[in-house]
Amino acid sequence: MPPHQIDELAKQHGQEHLLEGTHLLSPEQREAYHQQLSQVHFADLRKLYEKAKEVEQALHLEDCACPPIIRVPPSEADQKQHQHARQLGEAALRQGQVAIILVAGGQGTRLGHEAPKGTFPIGPVSDRSLFQIHAEKVLALGRRYGKPLPFLIMTSIENHADTIQFFEKNHFFGLEPAHVSFFTQGMLPALDAATGKVLLKGAGDLALSPNGHGGVIEALQEAGLLDKLVDQGVLHCFYFQVDNPLVKIADPVFLGFHVEAQAEMSLKVLAKLSAGERMGNLVELEGRCRIIEYTELPKALAEQQTSDGQLRIWAGSPAIHLFSLHFLQRLASGEISLPYHIAHKAVPYWHPETGLQKTEQANAFKFERFVFDALPLAERVVAMETTRIEEFEPLKNADGDNSPQSVKQALSDQYARWLRSAGVDIDLNHDGHSVAYIELSPLVALEAEDLLRHARLDGKWTSASINGN
Ligand code: UTP
Repeated sequence: MPPHQIDELAKQHGQEHLLEGTHLLSPEQREAYHQQLSQVHFADLRKLYEKAKEVEQALHLEDCACPPIIRVPPSEADQKQHQHARQLGEAALRQGQVAIILVAGGQGTRLGHEAPKGTFPIGPVSDRSLFQIHAEKVLALGRRYGKPLPFLIMTSIENHADTIQFFEKNHFFGLEPAHVSFFTQGMLPALDAATGKVLLKGAGDLALSPNGHGGVIEALQEAGLLDKLVDQGVLHCFYFQVDNPLVKIADPVFLGFHVEAQAEMSLKVLAKLSAGERMGNLVELEGRCRIIEYTELPKALAEQQTSDGQLRIWAGSPAIHLFSLHFLQRLASGEISLPYHIAHKAVPYWHPETGLQKTEQANAFKFERFVFDALPLAERVVAMETTRIEEFEPLKNADGDNSPQSVKQALSDQYARWLRSAGVDIDLNHDGHSVAYIELSPLVALEAEDLLRHARLDGKWTSASINGN
């Protein structure tokens, strides 16, 4: 869009302050600023601001229940269904119907790692990065089922170049570069809560932040990737987040249940550790599944128990999903759309006269979309339980819970369990952890059963077979 049109739009929407002082910018700065401004949908921002000022209609959560969930481990009677699901899932993988979507556009503020979070070294022995663990799982799946899986990685403007560089430097961890796509999520400016004016963080620089993991749908569409997946014959997209190296990417059993139910969206859930655990809660309300954030679940409801002393709302979401490609297309077309969540936050702001002002007060509205808000829009949903030790220990913090230490331990414990189940002797200390850290390459084993297969083939274990060399 030519600069004069952008200026006109800004004025029409009461954002003329954005044009003040632009004559002081260098030609390059001015161009970069116009580039930023051309991405802003001023009319949409106005609507978002009006929505932020309204009092939100509360959901009648007292009427919510826990929807049906496929439990694990399967009972004797359910074994057959699980085996059938696995066959269906494996058939979808063999036919090249599955793509993998990884969202890695977050800012990783709590971890405080300088580079993109996916570059964090987390392999307990090898220091493999999060990205390497994920990429090797995708590679191993492609090899096992004889069809490489399209691997789509969402970045943000801030970490896009560094992410690509990391993959290039590491030769895409053995993946064909043509099978890996990087796409950038959108950004939205923060608005002054009192006036609705777009905030700046410097001269010719908007106060922008990523539009949330729910931005993945629009970003896939804008990058032309949904159409590309259609052309490739993909029907199902497995979605996960960069910080959880335990995730079973494209778990065939999960996939099979999703395929069998012709679900538009499916999710894995975990039994919550406590009523108020800081994770999204799966509930059913007015016949639709949805995730209610822990901050929005009233304490009394969160603490309600069934007659056998279990939490009534027991299922938490580890952000592991499957989408039918058709459902993603419906969401991207605008036929249905994800709502925006509004956060009232303290955001530093810049003005030509005062420079950058920091504030402790919540002075601004920020807007984000969450991918799990697609759930109530989906026509058919499958929810399947998984366990924390098998599938969830995300890297969020620098220390304590969900920190490098806890994630390395969880990975090592998982590999030790798999090896023990395959008959390998592992010395455990009194806490039940192996005496030293253990690590297996995803190229050797994606699950415990793979080790049994290796054991049968090799007859004995060698360090090469364990390291995947
Ligand atoms: P979190 O909400 O935990 O954010 O993201 P984060 O960036 O990892 O960490 P903090 O909160 O700043 O400390 C969960 C997942 O969603 C992705 C993240 O990259 C992570 O995989 N995400 C989050 C995006 O891709 N885009 C976003 O705008 C937000």
